[in-house]
Amino acid sequence: MSKFATGVTVITTVDPEGNPHSMTANAFTSVCLDPPTLLVCVAHNTITYGYIEEQKRIGVNVLREEQEELGMYFARRPENREGNPEYSYTMGVHNVPELDGSMVFFNCDIVGSHVYGDHTIYVGEVKDMRRSEDEGANPLMFFDSHWYHPMH
Ligand SMILES: Cc1cc2nc3c(=O)[nH]c(=O)nc-3n(C[C@H](O)[C@H](O)[C@H](O)COP(=O)(O)O)c2cc1C
Repeated sequence: MSKFATGVTVITTVDPEGNPHSMTANAFTSVCLDPPTLLVCVAHNTITYGYIEEQKRIGVNVLREEQEELGMYFARRPENREGNPEYSYTMGVHNVPELDGSMVFFNCDIVGSHVYGDHTIYVGEVKDMRRSEDEGANPLMFFDSHWYHPMH
């Protein structure tokens, strides 16, 4: 799988108190346009998995190349996160957090799920979205177990 180059997303959820929680994910793809639908695959040992099971809603934030530090930060559980990157959230409809500054944000209701092995495949119907106004933004990518900046 490491030879399949992907973009990088951050999945946003909320904890039971309503505080935003984020996790880096690249197991993400479009499903269909009518209705606008996407999917993500989430490991059962993540904190995010428990929050999705409770809330049945997710945000998917597509990272831009300047957000590599955030991608690394959210790829660790909160107790193991290193560094102090700056980030902020805007609460979207249905209390789904948007990670400010990402290239695209999808606000989704979970409309289907399939457990396979140690992951669940979640199907999300896009209820709202935002695109960066910066048309020149470049994506952050992941390839061969490394962060990758295709434009450089
Ligand atoms: C580039 C990259 C992509 C990742 N993609 C996924 C993914 O699609 N699904 C997943 O469950 N974990 C994925 N992970 C691992 C999670 O980010 C990691 O387990 C994280 O600590 C989970 O956070 P949480 O337990 O706070 O929710 C990925 C990690 C990296 C570095």
